Amino acid sequence: MLEPVVAIVVAAGSGSRLGASLPKALVPLAGIPLVRRCVDNLASAGVQRVVVTVPSALEPDFAEALEGAAMPVSCVVGGHRRQDSVRLGLQALGELPDTAHVLVHDAARPLIPAAVSGRVVSALRLGGRAVVPAIPVVDSIRKATGNSSVVVDRARLRAVQTPQGFEVGTLRRAHDHVAESGIEVTDDAAACEAMGVEVVLVEGDQRSLKITEPLDLVVAEAILSAEGGGMNRRVGMGTDVHTLTTGVPMWVAGLHFPDEPLGLAGHSDGDVAAHAACDALLGAAGLGDLGSNFGTSEARWADARGVAFLTETARRVRAAGYEIDNVSVTIIGNRPRLAARRLEAEDVLSTALGAPVSVGATTTDGLGLTGRGEGVAAMAVASLRW
Ligand code: CTP
Ligand code: MG
Repeated sequence: MLEPVVAIVVAAGSGSRLGASLPKALVPLAGIPLVRRCVDNLASAGVQRVVVTVPSALEPDFAEALEGAAMPVSCVVGGHRRQDSVRLGLQALGELPDTAHVLVHDAARPLIPAAVSGRVVSALRLGGRAVVPAIPVVDSIRKATGNSSVVVDRARLRAVQTPQGFEVGTLRRAHDHVAESGIEVTDDAAACEAMGVEVVLVEGDQRSLKITEPLDLVVAEAILSAEGGGMNRRVGMGTDVHTLTTGVPMWVAGLHFPDEPLGLAGHSDGDVAAHAACDALLGAAGLGDLGSNFGTSEARWADARGVAFLTETARRVRAAGYEIDNVSVTIIGNRPRLAARRLEAEDVLSTALGAPVSVGATTTDGLGLTGRGEGVAAMAVASLRW
């Protein structure tokens, strides 16, 4: 069985060098607080829950910044030094098997490429006890002593990043050891090393820069905008089918077709296009599916219009921290004829979603349930970013 992966995000520092009016982890980067970006990025890398260390008296502000995050979050007040915060975070994680894996990450690094977390977790799964992402040093390096200095061969030097990954038992013992021995460390790999644990290196990423000085925020914003507004994208797909039946109005793609003799049967209005779009969006966000979000037991969704589902789905997806790029829907069936109202459908669905929805339609050459006119189907793909 794969070991669970949990995380600690250390965010209890004040950010004195950044000099913002907020603690650094709450400073927005392209509108989203640094700590929120970290938590959602880690969630997308498969982390199951996270403890965030926060400055004292600021729990409500952090709770607000982390509301609707993509995994369960608990906040705990951090300590005087970073290493004290990590130790408190480890305590707050509670009971875990010693072999469970924990990622420790600085809230100051909001742009965690998914590939970096992936490499760290893979190295843990291969038996690493302490794993560190690192990048080569590009500047020439000199070691200064008073006014003089000597060159240092940079070929074997590495700049260390986070998230660093550990066996939780090893990390707990390492932090106990440095605390009891009065050893100061700037990261958790150093705490493990002080206890003789081998530290495994994996490739880091230049984009995973640490926000320390004001210029770093400018660089991070530039990276985000160069990459289309988000480091991470997710796609989802959805499909839906409803039966053609007499005695109900035809609603598809947010439009009513009053001249259609048959309509689509369903708990709601049977709008396959809107439902497939919702499924694609929920799937992309990892929020389940239409059934798990809008149970048939909830009276308010009985007979609800497809656009109502779409608007509520959009709200839930955004509350989970995602921006919606677009949705593309294809309706499959003989009727209704959509061509004349395709743009109108796109307009109605896009308005409901607050993001572009493109709509297409096709028949299936008389084949299958849609070809025989038994029902109408739709498929959709959604793209999200954060
Ligand atoms: N950190 C922490 N507890 C501390 C000190 C630091 O949780 N007592 C966290 C910070 O919030 C940050 C990370 O450790 O995410 C790395 O620290 P650093 O970049 O130095 O952040 P700050 O200490 O906040 O910044 P500064 O040193 O400029 O005040
Ligand atoms: Mg600091």
